[in-house]
Amino acid sequence: MNKQILVTGGTGFIGSHTVVELQNNGYDVVIVDNLSNSKVEVLDQIKEITGIRPKFEQFDLTDKQKVKEFFKKYSDIEAIIHFAASKAVGESVGKPLMYYNNNLSSLMNIMESMIDCEVSNLVFSSSCTVYGQPDKLPVTEQTPRKEAESPYGNTKVICEDIIRDTIKAYPSLKGIALRYFNPIGAHATAKIGELPLGVPNNLIPFLTQTVAGIRPELSVFGDDYNTEDGSAVRDYIHVVDLAKAHVVAIERLLTGKNKRNCEYFNIGTGNGVSVLEIIKSFERATGEKVPHKIVARRAGDIEKIYADTSFANEELGWKAQSTLDETLLSAWKWQLRIAKM
Ligand code: UFG
Repeated sequence: MNKQILVTGGTGFIGSHTVVELQNNGYDVVIVDNLSNSKVEVLDQIKEITGIRPKFEQFDLTDKQKVKEFFKKYSDIEAIIHFAASKAVGESVGKPLMYYNNNLSSLMNIMESMIDCEVSNLVFSSSCTVYGQPDKLPVTEQTPRKEAESPYGNTKVICEDIIRDTIKAYPSLKGIALRYFNPIGAHATAKIGELPLGVPNNLIPFLTQTVAGIRPELSVFGDDYNTEDGSAVRDYIHVVDLAKAHVVAIERLLTGKNKRNCEYFNIGTGNGVSVLEIIKSFERATGEKVPHKIVARRAGDIEKIYADTSFANEELGWKAQSTLDETLLSAWKWQLRIAKM
């Protein structure tokens, strides 16, 4: 029988791509999502890609009773990938309690049920935001975490600590926190991708909407950073490469290859890329022009971050495969597809 994996937030951007990769690797998936930031039609799209419609339960993971009932109903879950969370940095500044309540209580409810129902394996979606602006680049998993810049970022730090402390107290539990750098792009079929609500905050959806004529021009936030061309530097990773990292993390836990009960991995490409380089790469890959202007820095932005991925490369046997041009082309194909939706 196939192993059953619970994917919380499985209709979301990273979640849906991960469900596809899990199903392609022979896992049975059950998704829990409250659809607060995603659409139920994603299930049909996943079926179009993989031939299998994942099981789906719609409820809010902050509801402890519902979480308990879920684990009673699905008693053969072997591992959990926990994506479900609120993720807008700016919004979290105005609504800290909503962010702490949502992101912390859903994790705690899941971990309580893991203990009660003897589910041992957890993969958690963490973020490079836990490093803040690091003193030294690239960042390794040993780079000290810094005080978070936003309540959202702080929920990632606290969730990592909740997992660490709970695993310490219950040694039958095992966890892997994947610290994502900047996930972008979309599935090669253009059937799933990122669906931002309203005006996008993130660079790539804003850029593709600009090229599609939905926004007049892209604002490049700052050209006076201490970087080669003055614009800020990030490590942009194709969402399918990121999704594949979850499959190897699950396999590591299920086969007992983990070296510690609680492990952390940087999931990026290892390449630092500036905003202006993103524009150039997009134009090269798609043949489209990106209307843009330089404006002031965005409050709260860091100057530069990129990953040292050698630990993930060696320990997980995983490495990002896609080039930046391929990744940006996939984002553009997705934008063209959603224009028709
Ligand atoms: N940027 C622009 N113009 C825009 C949008 C973004 O120039 O319209 C720039 C930003 O200033 C930044 C870069 O593009 O330099 C990337 O910005 P994003 O908003 O796409 O991503 P961030 O690096 O700010 O944030 C991402 C995730 C967060 C996570 C953070 C961790 O979206 O969830 O990485 O560092 F917390």
